[in-house]
Formats: sequence, structure tokens, C-alpha cells
Amino acid sequence: MRMTILVTGGAGFIGGNFVLDWLAAHEETVVNLDKLTYAGNLQTLAGLRDNPRHLFVQGDIGDRALLAALLQQHRPRAVINFAAESHVDRSIHGPGDFIQTNIVGTFNLLESVRAYWQELPDAEQAAFRLLHVSTDEVYGTLGAADAPFSEQHRYEPNSPYSASKAASDHLVRAWHHTYGLPVLTTNCSNNYGPYHFPEKLIPLVILNALAGKTLPIYGDGQQVRDWLYVKDHCAAIRRVLAAGQLGETYNVGGWNEKTNLEVVHAICSLLDELRPRADGQPYAAQISYVQDRPGHDRRYAIDARKLERELGWKPAETFASGIRKTVQWYLDNDEWINGVSSGQYRDWLTTQYGA
Ligand code: NAD
Ligand code: DAU
Repeated sequence: MRMTILVTGGAGFIGGNFVLDWLAAHEETVVNLDKLTYAGNLQTLAGLRDNPRHLFVQGDIGDRALLAALLQQHRPRAVINFAAESHVDRSIHGPGDFIQTNIVGTFNLLESVRAYWQELPDAEQAAFRLLHVSTDEVYGTLGAADAPFSEQHRYEPNSPYSASKAASDHLVRAWHHTYGLPVLTTNCSNNYGPYHFPEKLIPLVILNALAGKTLPIYGDGQQVRDWLYVKDHCAAIRRVLAAGQLGETYNVGGWNEKTNLEVVHAICSLLDELRPRADGQPYAAQISYVQDRPGHDRRYAIDARKLERELGWKPAETFASGIRKTVQWYLDNDEWINGVSSGQYRDWLTTQYGA
């Protein structure tokens, strides 16, 4: 059995948490291929600087020559694909990068991995896996009374982001069906936790609250998301990699449906307790309703019973325990936060929320 895995997008939020957890628990080497877009952050991996089992390579999943060289040199037993453009609002402002990385990039990754896999000796070919990390957003939106998304739910993506992820899932499926590539796909709900880039709701609200800024709620704030602590997602991916059935997809979710307003109030209450405002006012006073996201999906909810029934995975954190850890992490990690609050990030805030 080869003792190396190749992770793409391992300097991002989920990929970074995955690499840190993997190296803490396994003996295997991780080759970490990441383009370091605005969302990639080597500070997340700073604790691995002296770890000889972490090999970081800056590069694009669409670069076939680079991938061929990395696969030949390191001969991984698995590839886990986290690399993507991941932010819905950015996909609305500019979908081009989403088409390029999420669709064309995934195609190039599949072709590179197929070429490598086809040449492996029989036993290694049989053991090899490509795990593609995807999202619940490919299923579209739910009404208030609808059953949560199962793996059988029709693909109905509504944003440029979710359409590009849906396309990547279809490519992965086709490469299994047509070429026999040994793939696994996971479709997960909203993650939160340490190292989350503050363009997304939870870290944005924590940092805006602490900075005395407004807490922007799109539309009426009654949109529902199904929140999963990022370490639980990483555990699910490890489980699917170890025991998932080839060609199958697995939905991953936390059974934690919350409206956006409930999430923001939970964060405000924790901050009131852990770092009260100097003027004694509640952080919820900073809530401000802003223009809604175009095409905003109303509700996501995941039916994660297949993963529990077939592979024995269940989330360890409740929303209450996970959000407390997350708020505490942001209070304790000024250095990481200062590192991501660059000029480019400030430009994004102006583009999205105005001056
Ligand atoms: P992220 O935006 O935080 O990180 C993405 C990483 O991919 C960054 O480090 C970036 O530099 C890298 N990257 C982007 N384009 C690349 C390219 N062409 N080549 C190589 N690297 C590239 O995203 P995330 O939130 O960590 O999401 C990781 C994956 O999980 C994505 O595929 C996303 O669709 C999926 N997902 C995310 C969530 C969530 O709630 N964040 C939920 C379900 C699924
Ligand atoms: O469902 C999984 C998806 O979750 C992932 O595939 C995406 O990569 C990830 O970004 C996330 O998408 P969302 O659009 O659900 O996450 P975001 O944090 O951007 O927004 C969460 C909800 O909060 C959504 O209903 C929009 C709302 N929102 C967001 C921001 C940034 C606000 O009301 N105000 C805000 O300022």
C-alpha cells in the first residue's frame, strides 16, 4: 500500500482542516496542491512548517503537466479534491473563475488522474481512490415542508457556483461510468469552524461584531442552512475514503437546520458572554438588513442517513458546541485574522456591501 495521499485545495478552509487532522492522525505523507487564490492561506498550515510529511506545492488543478509530474513523483494511493472557487456571492459578481476551476479544472484533474491510474500495477490500481468533495447546493432549494436532500434528489443548481459544482460532479460520475475510474463523491451542507475565510456568513459576523461594524442580513434572514462543524466533515471524508463504495455519492450533514437570523443571534449571544461590548449593549444591536442575494436559495437540509447506515458516520458536534468552539477560536487567533484581512479582502467588502 502506498503511503502518500494528494490533496488539492489544502490551503483553503476545509482542505486546510483536513490536512491538519490527517497529519495528526495518520503516518502517511500529504502532497498538498493549491493555487493560493485569495482563499488559500499558508498561515493555516503554519504549524506544519517543519513537518517532513507535508509537501506543499503551489499550482493549479488545471495544469496537467504539473499533475502528471506530481503523480509520477509521489505515486499517491488517493487523491482528494477540495480545490474550487467556493463563494456563491463571488460567483454572482464574476462566474468565469468558477467555470475555469470547478469545471475545466476538474476535467483536467480527472484526465491526469486517469492517465496515472491506468498505468498502476493491478493491486495499486484496485486500491486507488479519487474522492471529489462537493456540496448540497447542487440539489437546489427546498420548501419549508420538503424532506431533506437524499442522494436521489434531482440536481437543480441555481447559482453559477452550484451549477459549476454540479457540472464537476457529473464529470466525476462519467469518468467512473465510462473509464472505470475509482471515484467517490461527497455532497456536504454548510461548514463552519476554525480557519474559515471571513467572506462567509459565520466568520464575517464574528469579525464585524468585534470591529463594531454592522452585521449584514440578506433579505428577511429566514433562509435556512444545515450547519456542520468542519472537523465532522473531515471525519466523514476520511470514512468515505476508507470504506465508501466505488462510484457512490454520500450526503454529509449535521442535522442542524437554522435560519440565518438564528445563527447570527447565537453568535451575538456568545460574544455578549465571552467578550461583552464596552458600552454594555448587546451585539445584536449591530444587525442590519441589506439587499438580498439574487436567486437566493431558501432552504438546504441534508438527509445523512446513508452515510450513518452504511459507513457508521455521525457528527460529533451539535450546533451549540460547534459554534461556541468557533467563536472562541476567532477570539484566540488574532494573528490568523490579521493575515486574511488584506487589501484584497477589504476590496471585496466594498464590492459586496458598499463603502
Ligand atoms: P475555500 O474557498 O476556503 O478553499 C478553496 C481552496 O482551493 C483555496 O485554498 C484555493 O487557493 C484553492 N484553489 C482554488 N482554485 C484552485 C485551482 N484551480 N487549483 C488549485 N487550488 C485551487 O473552499 P472550502 O470552503 O474549503 O471548500 C472546499 C471544497 O468543499 C470546495 O470544493 C467546496 O465546493 C466544497 N464544499 C464547501 C462547503 C462549505 O461550507 N465551505 C460545503 C460543502 C462543500
Ligand atoms: O451549502 C454548502 C455551501 O455553503 C458551500 O457549497 C459553499 O461553498 C459555502 O460558501 C456555503 O454557501 P452559502 O451561500 O450557504 O454560505 P454563506 O456563508 O455565503 O451564506 C450563508 C447564508 O447567509 C446564506 O443564506 C446567505 C446569508 N448571508 C451571507 C453573507 C455572507 C447573509 O445573510 N449575509 C452575509 O453577509
